[in-house]
Amino acid sequence: MARVVVTGRIPAEGVNALRNEHDVDAWDEATPIPRDELLRRVAGADALVTLLTERVDNELLDATGTQLRVVSNVAVGYNNIDVPACRARDIIATNTPGVLTDATADIAMALILMSTRRLAEGERVIRAQQPWQWGMFYMLGTGIQGRRLGIVGMGQIGAALARRAKAFGMTIAYSNRNAIAPELAAELGCTRVSMDELLATSHVVSLHCPYSPETHHLVGADQLAAMRADAFLINTARGPVVDEAALADALQRGAIAGAGLDVFENEPAVHPGLIDLDNVVLIPHLGSATIETRTAMATLAAANTLAVLRGESAPTPIR
Ligand code: GLV
Repeated sequence: MARVVVTGRIPAEGVNALRNEHDVDAWDEATPIPRDELLRRVAGADALVTLLTERVDNELLDATGTQLRVVSNVAVGYNNIDVPACRARDIIATNTPGVLTDATADIAMALILMSTRRLAEGERVIRAQQPWQWGMFYMLGTGIQGRRLGIVGMGQIGAALARRAKAFGMTIAYSNRNAIAPELAAELGCTRVSMDELLATSHVVSLHCPYSPETHHLVGADQLAAMRADAFLINTARGPVVDEAALADALQRGAIAGAGLDVFENEPAVHPGLIDLDNVVLIPHLGSATIETRTAMATLAAANTLAVLRGESAPTPIR
């Protein structure tokens, strides 16, 4: 029996699968495990099942001892894990791609609709019991039919958003390190463009790239200035891909029309300059937050862990 430390609450399906084979020590509070407690608990672990709120760095790896074999992140993004540090110690790191594609693309599409149609703003009027009345010119938004969606990072989630947006009548452009397969490009009817062209021509720019030192502040003051004044920025990737202070400034000045954000630079904090703005939709990192998706993520993370502990290949290793 191996010692598996689960660093946060995950659906029972995942924990039970692990418990069937191993000795599981799971943090069971709703709030993230304090760092000191985490460093203490991981001692002697053969496997760690981690959430994106936990930093897996050399300090944490040192605290485990010498027998750690696998770090299974219950997330597709893995910027919380120092993957080279794991590799240097022959520790397999895994994530959960695929199972949260639809849920995250749904949230991106929802943010596009919420921001272009001013839905959160409208809801605030009603909840604040402000006077309102149907009117020909009351709270007009902008339609998305025939407008260009620029997708930055055309992986599984980007492609799933493209399918949704196409059904809403949008045209799709994307910027990505590599061109996508011709069949997929034909199915989505999308064109590959440079980041500069994407920013200058898209009515909606949606971010779907992983967060890394190369994508830190990929969208900053210069990129926001390059966007159309009637454009919207959507971020369901990772907060620090956007310079939040620069975005708050651009939104305040009306340099772009609006934004929809599911992720923030210093979660759970949100830049104070965004809070009072009507032209930004703010939701608390809900991209994968459905019961079905979180269950599938926990199940896949458990499968990754169990495979490595059995000496088999992990289903979804980070490469
Ligand atoms: C959620 O943000 C994830 O990366 O899975």
